Amino acid sequence: MFFVKYADRHYNTRVNSIITKSAEETKALAKLFAEAITQEVVLKSAVVVALNGVLGAGKTTFAQGFAEGLGVKEKVKSPTFVLVHKYGIKKKKQFKSFYHADCYRLEGEKDVSSIGLSEVMADPENIVLIEWARRVAKALPKKNMIRVTLTYINEKTRKISFN
Ligand SMILES: Nc1ncnc2c1ncn2[C@@H]1O[C@H](COP(=O)(O)OP(=O)(O)OP(=O)(O)O)[C@@H](O)[C@H]1O
Ligand SMILES: [Mg+2]
Repeated sequence: MFFVKYADRHYNTRVNSIITKSAEETKALAKLFAEAITQEVVLKSAVVVALNGVLGAGKTTFAQGFAEGLGVKEKVKSPTFVLVHKYGIKKKKQFKSFYHADCYRLEGEKDVSSIGLSEVMADPENIVLIEWARRVAKALPKKNMIRVTLTYINEKTRKISFN
């Protein structure tokens, strides 16, 4: 798997989860994850990363490292109030935009299309990362979706699980 090199100490092949001990470690992991999932893929719809975890679990922190892995140069901030932020991707051939959404205030499919996310998720040139994805679970695509769950262990420690 892609993160063996990063965290051979913590890697668990059965549950695909990793323990991080700081925000920096979470960013570094998210960066490697972004690099790995955007390598040589040909897709018919966007890549969607569905992030879940309680308030302060580290979803936005993860998104910042993830964006760095895509080559996004701008500073990634929480889209709590605007709901969706769009960033340009220059480094990757087939991906043009990174969308970072926060669905904390949304309820289901209608809301997802009303903020334009349904269209965004249908376009193979996009990579979409959604905080509070479980709020809109039914509106998420079945294909090309990766679930990432952040679990708060203690002040500096998080468990990050993939799929
Ligand atoms: N191992 C870790 N991984 C990620 N963040 C950590 C870790 N240890 C401490 N932190 C801190 O936890 C906080 C996580 O905040 P962040 O905004 O990323 O959470 P969030 O899940 O996006 O919250 P919200 O639900 O409000 O959007 C940051 O202050 C970060 O520095
Ligand atoms: Mg957040």
